[in-house]
Amino acid sequence: MVTGGAGFIGSNFVHYLLEKYPDYRVLVFDKLTYAGNLANLADLAGHPRYHFVRGDICDAEAVRAAIRQYDIDTIVNFAAETHVDRSIMDADAFIRTDIYGTYVLLEAVKEFRLERFHQVSTDEVYGEVLEGSSVETDPLRPRSPYAASKAGAEHLVQAYFVTYGLPVTITRGSNNIGPYQYPEKVVPLFITNAIDDLPLPLYGDGTQQRDYQYVLDHCEGIDIVLHHGKPGEAYNLGTGVETRNIDMARLILRLLGKPESLIQFVKDRPGHDRRYSINCDKIKALGWRSRHTFEEALEKTVRWYVEHEEWWRPLKSGEYKEYYRRQYLQR
Ligand code: NAD
Ligand code: TYD
Repeated sequence: MVTGGAGFIGSNFVHYLLEKYPDYRVLVFDKLTYAGNLANLADLAGHPRYHFVRGDICDAEAVRAAIRQYDIDTIVNFAAETHVDRSIMDADAFIRTDIYGTYVLLEAVKEFRLERFHQVSTDEVYGEVLEGSSVETDPLRPRSPYAASKAGAEHLVQAYFVTYGLPVTITRGSNNIGPYQYPEKVVPLFITNAIDDLPLPLYGDGTQQRDYQYVLDHCEGIDIVLHHGKPGEAYNLGTGVETRNIDMARLILRLLGKPESLIQFVKDRPGHDRRYSINCDKIKALGWRSRHTFEEALEKTVRWYVEHEEWWRPLKSGEYKEYYRRQYLQR
């Protein structure tokens, strides 16, 4: 059962799983919030090993019914509110889904004695890391409402391992880029704006750093931890190489043949974490390697958005426009 499987990473993971494991059946359980999109899974309609249930992970009855009906043995939890800027505007849904929803899933894992629960977490739980790189034993010091809600979820996952012995694993992934990412996150936002000759709103001085990894590398890492990770353990998952936002923006413009004058420096995000950096030796010891450099990942991503306007254009209307106005007009 892949919760949040209609979102960006979840839908990539579902495709990856069905292709790699010819004997796996996959149930996507997704609330279809603004970020969930059945178009991400459209090619799977009629696939004999794929099923979809629209449901909320906060709804214990719906979760239990799906586990029973589809005879679930494993849950991989992608379902979450995921955008830092939205969490700054209003954290309510983050606390509900990311924390309470994870609790509901853990209770179901306990009740039905499932074989494995995997929590898809983030490097943002470590908080800002100005020097060096985070290792898995570092304390969690989240600084945004989003990161705090993901850290809360992780603490529950660890607590259920210690208290009830549930078979859980956690990955702390860095920023993903690739096909099907909702165009509010920086990379698809900048690519789609640049295609339309609209400004690229760069927060602060643009020197903040992120470890941008290709989404399928992340999916492969989750797969490896799911099958070979040690219960009760967390694994950092990223390239281990950080890029400044300004360099990311310049490369997007270069790949699209657009002028750097499209970059517009705007007011910074409150509490903006200047840098995340993770040490990935632990997952590498399981045999995982990142297959894409940042440049390769960005090039593939730019190409996908150029070739799939029919996917993203409809998303940049309605609710999106209202969000965009609230987020950027005053900046
Ligand atoms: P996304 O916002 O694209 O998708 C989230 C999905 O969860 C959507 O399909 C949405 O409909 C669903 N959802 C939301 N609330 C739900 C609920 N209450 N019940 C059921 N479904 C619900 O997110 P994403 O970028 O694909 O991220 C997926 C996961 O990976 C999240 O847990 C996120 O914290 C984590 N993560 C993301 C990144 C990244 O760079 N995007 C990096 C590391 C970790
Ligand atoms: P984002 O994609 O929101 O991911 P996160 O904050 O979860 O890492 O943002 C990535 C980086 O890009 C982050 O340093 C904030 C910056 N950013 C901008 O400069 N402008 C924007 O419009 C957005 C959305 C983000």
